[in-house]
Amino acid sequence: MAVTPRTLVRWKREHRSIVTLTAWDYAIAKVLDEAGVDVVLVGDSLAQVALGYETTLPLTLEEMLHHAKAVRRGVKQALMVVDLPFLTYQESPQQALQSAGRILKETGAAAVKLEGGYPAMAETVAVLVQAGIPVMGHVGLTPQSVHQLGYRKQGTTNTEESRLVSEALALERAGIFALVLEHIDGALAEKISQKLTVPTLGIGAGSGCDGQILVTHDLLGWSDRQPPFAKVYANLRETISEAVRQYGDDVRSRRFRV
Ligand code: KIV
Repeated sequence: MAVTPRTLVRWKREHRSIVTLTAWDYAIAKVLDEAGVDVVLVGDSLAQVALGYETTLPLTLEEMLHHAKAVRRGVKQALMVVDLPFLTYQESPQQALQSAGRILKETGAAAVKLEGGYPAMAETVAVLVQAGIPVMGHVGLTPQSVHQLGYRKQGTTNTEESRLVSEALALERAGIFALVLEHIDGALAEKISQKLTVPTLGIGAGSGCDGQILVTHDLLGWSDRQPPFAKVYANLRETISEAVRQYGDDVRSRRFRV
């Protein structure tokens, strides 16, 4: 049965851990879906990992829509969530509604994700949810705020820690169905997970979350730069490079046959 935002909330109650990975194209999306991944996120890490930008900031809504449409064609069972790119939702709840509406209408995705938990963001979440758009939150290290936060671990002082807890609670009150916790201490992530009724998905946030999320290219050892908390299960970069070298050798030495 297809996974929905409500399924994830139920799984939290049933203590079933949620498996989430990113996809930006049809081929990867299809493999993830067929391998039983619960949630496929068209993450804006697309900007850095697949499009070669320095940060996630330059990514446009049009670029995101293009990739999300390809992912949609590969996903049959998993819940598909699409990141709202930088400055396609921060300006006003109306701007967020327009952008999220386009994502749902044009790509067939079932939900959007946005970063930040400051009071205005909770208001934006409430507007989207009231319009029938399921929203996944994202706090802790929020890459769209790189120029303010850097890529360092968040929630490391008492003040930051209590700010993160209140942001998580405010987002839940506003109606999110799940919350990504990125690069925060495991004990803090566990505390937030226990306080919320919606599931948390951790990335660099220990094992006490209600599920985990990773960038697929990091998991596969395919990215050219990986965050310190990435868990690598394969070395695709080396495998691809070796295959390409062998092909090159075969062609140049005229050994290539089909
Ligand atoms: O863009 C992304 O890939 C993310 C992560 C949480 C995986 O937001």
